[in-house]
Amino acid sequence: MSSTRPGRIGPKVAEWVAAQAPTTEWSTALVDLGELPFLDEEDMPRNGNYAKPHTQAWASQVFESDAIVIVTPQYNRSFPAPIKNAVDMLFAEWQAKPVALVGYGWTGAEDATADLTKVLTHVKADVVGSTGLHFPDDLTPEGAVTVSGEKRDELVALLAALSVKVEAPVDAPR
Ligand SMILES: Cc1cc2nc3c(=O)[nH]c(=O)nc-3n(C[C@H](O)[C@H](O)[C@H](O)COP(=O)(O)O)c2cc1C
Repeated sequence: MSSTRPGRIGPKVAEWVAAQAPTTEWSTALVDLGELPFLDEEDMPRNGNYAKPHTQAWASQVFESDAIVIVTPQYNRSFPAPIKNAVDMLFAEWQAKPVALVGYGWTGAEDATADLTKVLTHVKADVVGSTGLHFPDDLTPEGAVTVSGEKRDELVALLAALSVKVEAPVDAPR
């Protein structure tokens, strides 16, 4: 989850996305990126020399996750600030991390997911793809998810692509 405003629908969308994961194979944790303080480390994240407990905790969470799904609204044609902060705080932990993106907004947040793909690719994450939930067909502005079977299938396929990455990581001996 990545939005912070009171009345945000992000948690409802993220909970719905998490509920589409294969529960027998996956153990999921919802993370609220808005709870991370703004980057306050003296050393460059690229050096991995994290001094603050919250940076260390976030680094461990990313490192220990097999895969990550970022659920982003579209704010002014891009993704909201807490996601940029969460990405910028770390560096090595993103390398080869399988990541999928789920956007929501009036155009399915396609600008937000495109911008986020560019940023995550820069930190060498393995972005497997993205999907977008559109107002008003896939969800209401109040956060009630009303997606079609086809859209749900698209998300399930995206999550399956993450599973493939976890089962056959790029750095595994072949
Ligand atoms: C600051 C701001 C900018 C927004 N800009 C866009 C936009 O560019 N495109 C869009 O489709 N929706 C835009 N919206 C609408 C949001 O996608 C919609 O309100 C969504 O519910 C926001 O997610 P949240 O409820 O989790 O905060 C914007 C909303 C806010 C608060």
